[in-house]
Amino acid sequence: MNKYERGHFVVGVTPETISGPKPVLNNILEYFSTDFQEIEAALDRHFSSHLSFVNEVSRHILFAGGKRLRPLLTVCSARLCGKQDSEVYDLSAVPEYLHAASLLHDDVVDEGQMRRGKLPAYKIWGNQAAVLVGDFLYAKAIELASRFGDVRIAESISRTVSLMAEGEILQLLQAKTPNFEEAAYLEIIYRKTAALISCSCQIGGFLASASPEQVEALGNYGLCVGQAFQMSDDILDYTADADELGKLVGTDLAEGKLTLPMVVALKEADRPGKEKLLRMLRSGKPSVKDLEWVQSLFYETGSFDYTRRRAEELIFSACESLGVFEECETRNLMQGLAHFVMERRN
Ligand code: IPE
Ligand code: IPE
Ligand code: MG
Ligand code: MG
Repeated sequence: MNKYERGHFVVGVTPETISGPKPVLNNILEYFSTDFQEIEAALDRHFSSHLSFVNEVSRHILFAGGKRLRPLLTVCSARLCGKQDSEVYDLSAVPEYLHAASLLHDDVVDEGQMRRGKLPAYKIWGNQAAVLVGDFLYAKAIELASRFGDVRIAESISRTVSLMAEGEILQLLQAKTPNFEEAAYLEIIYRKTAALISCSCQIGGFLASASPEQVEALGNYGLCVGQAFQMSDDILDYTADADELGKLVGTDLAEGKLTLPMVVALKEADRPGKEKLLRMLRSGKPSVKDLEWVQSLFYETGSFDYTRRRAEELIFSACESLGVFEECETRNLMQGLAHFVMERRN
């Protein structure tokens, strides 16, 4: 058995491995309750359409209990660079709109069955509506981003949208022509997840007129947190409780998705194990028994352990990146948030 038990992770990075005091891990989100209220209000302010149907579908995805990690990182990043006002909350809506748009599209592409604990929009209103309202939210995000009069913000957002699209396309190509290399996995998660989380941090820095060195540090922090976030998501897909996660578990196997636990298991399993795993990946319809077998294999081959270790290294790097800032409460909280990404259960 590995160092952590099924479905329950222990804190792997010790306080000594990061600079500054030990971040609060258990209730870190409570520190941000005022920010969350402001973020919700900003999200409510900026997406509306003249078409009530668009508002209805947008509301379904936008106000369904997402964690709001991306807007929170924009707010924290701006605060770390000395800016805290309503403009920051307005800007923080931009990455959440992008995220919501990508989820509307993602559930169509993946045929997702549950999103944020609810039915995905395409299951209620159909593929066309989900894709088109996703387009609308992408456009709203870009429009809002361009209102801040800072070309660096508009450029960062536009580049992120292309990267996210490329990430999804790479993943699609990968499902057709599998390449089970860790590098291929890292390429995908950089684009589909980490780029937006990094951008969420950088735009906060831009708005706060941070120095280039500070913006770079925020970007690195976000990249590392974003990659670790996707790695933890990939572990949760095989280990979490669906009610807690707000998504079904085991979907990555059914989708034939390349994730890091899978990459490691394919390398470490014996030949019959590897062949069975490849057959299941190709079949696209794993049974509950199949899924249990894959979970056991991932534990036995140290696949979850390896994935978690890689994510912990990234979290360490994320915390280190913030070393260019003076120690302060916001820096400590951002380091705590990096840890939260691994400790989260949803
Ligand atoms: C889900 O993102 C998609 C991934 C990048 C793994 P989140 O886990 O941040 O989703 P919400 O916003 O909390 O629903
Ligand atoms: C989520 O990706 C969407 C993006 C990151 C653009 P996944 O397909 O890996 O995540 P879930 O499991 O559906 O949330
Ligand atoms: Mg997907
Ligand atoms: Mg998906």
